[in-house]
Amino acid sequence: MKLVLAKDYRDMSRKAANVISAQVILKETSVLGLATGSTPIGAYQQLIEWHKKGDVSFASASTVNLDEYCSLPSSHEQSYLSFMNANFFDHIDIRRENAHLPNGMARHYEAECEAYDALISRLGGIDLQLLGIGPNGHIGFNEPDEHFMMKTHRVRLSDATRQANARFFGNDPNNVPEFALTMGMLHIMQAKKILLVANGQQKLAVLDRALNGPVTPRLPASLLQLHPDLTVVFSEK
Ligand code: F6R
Repeated sequence: MKLVLAKDYRDMSRKAANVISAQVILKETSVLGLATGSTPIGAYQQLIEWHKKGDVSFASASTVNLDEYCSLPSSHEQSYLSFMNANFFDHIDIRRENAHLPNGMARHYEAECEAYDALISRLGGIDLQLLGIGPNGHIGFNEPDEHFMMKTHRVRLSDATRQANARFFGNDPNNVPEFALTMGMLHIMQAKKILLVANGQQKLAVLDRALNGPVTPRLPASLLQLHPDLTVVFSEK
């Protein structure tokens, strides 16, 4: 594991964007696994800036997002599709047909999950997976559990996650969707490279447990200790 300490959020974002742009420059047809949430927004902004300057293109890349809420229409401003459009896709040259998220509105969610895993396999797996970490150690929406969930699956979001994401839903955890579809641990762990970004004092304890504590499904991010090419960029501020 490579741990990179950044001096602040901007520096963390720039360092993360450097890893992502290097990936796409070195392999134009890269498959990028992408995350939503507050943490990666600065990295997306930096990539947009470099793209506008002509330094990086996503025209031949494909993306697969980690997760999507269930029962939230994709047009809802808090859907992860809306998030990705607003914070990244609308501002770069990715071909829309190459930008994938699970469909949280799928009526037959089991078939949707299977299709999502099959799609990632068809793309040849993920070259670089970008991750944030939840306050309870989740990655994607792989919540603490008795065992690791390997495949894309529907998950009931934990109280901790709904609490943490309430800020996007009028500060009421009850407004946060109860379920989501999430990529499982298999495609995450099979990614050739993983880039985990985290910032703030409030992430320090969970990050420390994830990287230095026992590997346990009670803290899904702890499995990352077993990944051969993990870079963590952390900023305390
Ligand atoms: C989002 C995702 C989540 C977030 C995590 C941290 O696609 O997969 O695991 O990365 O909840 O979220 P923030 O960055 O908002 O603290």
